[in-house]
Amino acid sequence: MPVGSSPILISWGDRRKGNDRKGEFCRKSRIKTQSHLDPTPPNSVKNSLGKTRFDHGVQRAASNSVGRGPKLDTKTLIAISFKVAIRQNGLMTNATSNLIQHPRPIQTRTNPTTVTGPLPILKIGLVPIGFPVVQAALSGYSDGPMRIIARRLGASYTVAEVMIDRFVLDLKQRHRTRRHLHVTDEEHPVGGQLMGSDPASFGPAAQKLVEVGFDVIDINFGCPVKSTAGSCRGGYLLSEPEVAMEIVSRTREAVPSEIPVTLKMRRGLDDSAKSLDDFYRILDGAFARGVAAITVHGRTVEQKYVGPSNWDFLFDVKKHAGSRTILGSGDLFTAEACLEMLRATAVDGVSVARGAIGNPWIFSQTRALAEGLSLPQPSIAEQRRVMEMQFALCLQSSELAQSLATMRTFGIKFAQQQSHSEETRNAFARIRTIEDWHAVLDRWYPIAECATGNR
Ligand SMILES: Cc1cc2nc3c(=O)[nH]c(=O)nc-3n(C[C@H](O)[C@H](O)[C@H](O)COP(=O)(O)O)c2cc1C
Repeated sequence: MPVGSSPILISWGDRRKGNDRKGEFCRKSRIKTQSHLDPTPPNSVKNSLGKTRFDHGVQRAASNSVGRGPKLDTKTLIAISFKVAIRQNGLMTNATSNLIQHPRPIQTRTNPTTVTGPLPILKIGLVPIGFPVVQAALSGYSDGPMRIIARRLGASYTVAEVMIDRFVLDLKQRHRTRRHLHVTDEEHPVGGQLMGSDPASFGPAAQKLVEVGFDVIDINFGCPVKSTAGSCRGGYLLSEPEVAMEIVSRTREAVPSEIPVTLKMRRGLDDSAKSLDDFYRILDGAFARGVAAITVHGRTVEQKYVGPSNWDFLFDVKKHAGSRTILGSGDLFTAEACLEMLRATAVDGVSVARGAIGNPWIFSQTRALAEGLSLPQPSIAEQRRVMEMQFALCLQSSELAQSLATMRTFGIKFAQQQSHSEETRNAFARIRTIEDWHAVLDRWYPIAECATGNR
């Protein structure tokens, strides 16, 4: 969901309690945390190339969310916080800039058995997935249209953006909100992801996601955004193994046995020995309670997006897990990286996140590379075709203004595929009307050039 849009305003009484102060404690665990919804995020950061980048929109929206200004819904806050968290380390303003700027993952161990072997066929519980490269949950991005595009371009499975348990329970099938609970026929298999702090509400929320058609229920123990209510959820539950396992049990018991329940975890709250112990306690406990697969992001919660993802950790997790299904996450920005993670860590599948924003071709590219073919690059015509397709899909589920806002967000990322990326990006950023949208496509993705297939 584009920053600042708030189709669903839910009650947020606890926001007034001043829970966003730095250095406060998670209410349940008493674990000292820093604020992950910083009320005064930097309005400029230097990226690793030394360029200063600004994002007043995120800053304004984030500060509005904790003090004055319009109320924002939970989903919007999470999306903003992800962006703020990323900006705080100055690494990501668009998907492809990561190709240049992102540090290499930590990777010294190599799985000797699969270095040259065939790729694994991924299965999540009873749900066959196939090609082991999937689209990750991405708050603010992996809505229905993005998921459908990913599937059409080769992703074998996608996960919807995270939803708060209470948000799901309160959602009505009203016009403005029903898209959050809308699963189209061509999306299957698709996962719905839940986050929350109260084990009791996970079961009913999971049931609701199953009713609307999600094939897999994924539980988020990875989000680095602290609850505005001061209680632990997402990644902070990694420090609360008992609560985390209670959530797993309640969810597993609530949904039919043929629906797999999966987890998304970071490699720990931080780098302490306790954190490592807690990670494996939850991993083993969750599998023992019937979880079908676990996706592990090789960064800690404390790390947010600073520094590399630790693929050595993924190697160790898979070795520990044996035949139990593990997917890896972190620093997957190219087709080569996807295959490299599969081969080096021996995980059963990889979950592409930022690398798929504005580059849905990463899935077909990985398939091609796995077959020994050269990397297909999207032509200008193909880029235009996919953006028009995504816009058309947005219009099926959202109003024009919302659809334009979504395409503004995505267009900025798609622009990185263009040789005139800077100008194209700026042009997308200025889109306000349908005429603006057509003008940008005609200027930077001209039909004549499309007809000849030029880049
Ligand atoms: C903008 C953004 C939104 C995200 N939203 C979610 C989410 O809703 N659920 C989730 O489990 N992970 C979420 N993540 C984490 C990603 O799925 C992934 O684990 C992380 O970005 C590491 O992969 P990468 O380094 O290849 O991007 C998000 C990440 C970003 C950057």
